[in-house]
Amino acid sequence: MRASDNPVRDFFLQQAELFTDEFYFEPPARQTDTETGGLTGAVPEPLDWEELETRVRDCQKCALARTRTQVVFGAGNRNAGLLLIGEAPGQQEDLQGEPFVGRAGQLLDRILAAIQLGRQEVYIANILKCRPPNNRTPSSAEIENCEPYLLRQIELIQPALIVCLGLTAAQTLLRVETNLRDLRGNVYNYHGVDLVVTYHPAALLRNMGLKKYAWEDFQNIQKLYKAKSGSQ
Ligand code: URA
Repeated sequence: MRASDNPVRDFFLQQAELFTDEFYFEPPARQTDTETGGLTGAVPEPLDWEELETRVRDCQKCALARTRTQVVFGAGNRNAGLLLIGEAPGQQEDLQGEPFVGRAGQLLDRILAAIQLGRQEVYIANILKCRPPNNRTPSSAEIENCEPYLLRQIELIQPALIVCLGLTAAQTLLRVETNLRDLRGNVYNYHGVDLVVTYHPAALLRNMGLKKYAWEDFQNIQKLYKAKSGSQ
């Protein structure tokens, strides 16, 4: 396969070559939900935003569908250069249907403001679209079911920079088990897109000592993002 100027698409095309029945660029025959007896673990077809959102809102792939109040699809600018990825909705997010609207979200807003960014300029999503009961850590099965939705979001957004907020996002996307302290401070190549890792804002609320490291990370994020987007 020849490399194009769209590395994210190249990645998915390559995956489609390797895993023809599972990946979603022009599958030989599209199985409907009825044919599969409801949604299976298969990655969705090349859905547009509206189709993807409907698919996610109707998702019944795992038991979180029974305990959620609302699906938290993601929010922000769909043409954003910067994509922030958290773990999963918490209580407030589940109630309001928006990512990062609780205490951690308010801290995230302040951090973004400190680097001259507002929510309308970035896109914010989570690894899971539904709240795990009592905010427990997502299971690997839940992540496996839900990650394809995020991958499609990444493909649609084509961000210049991805920021993983916390260990779940970082370990999921990078396919590693490394701890956060070792993951931060590096720029990873996520299928052609720069990706950095920093602490989850909830971790900063629990441990004030981490704030100075997070501040270093966000200053670096600001620099990288400016360099990528050519903005001031
Ligand atoms: N924590 C997350 O990881 N995501 C949210 O949307 C809220 C809290």
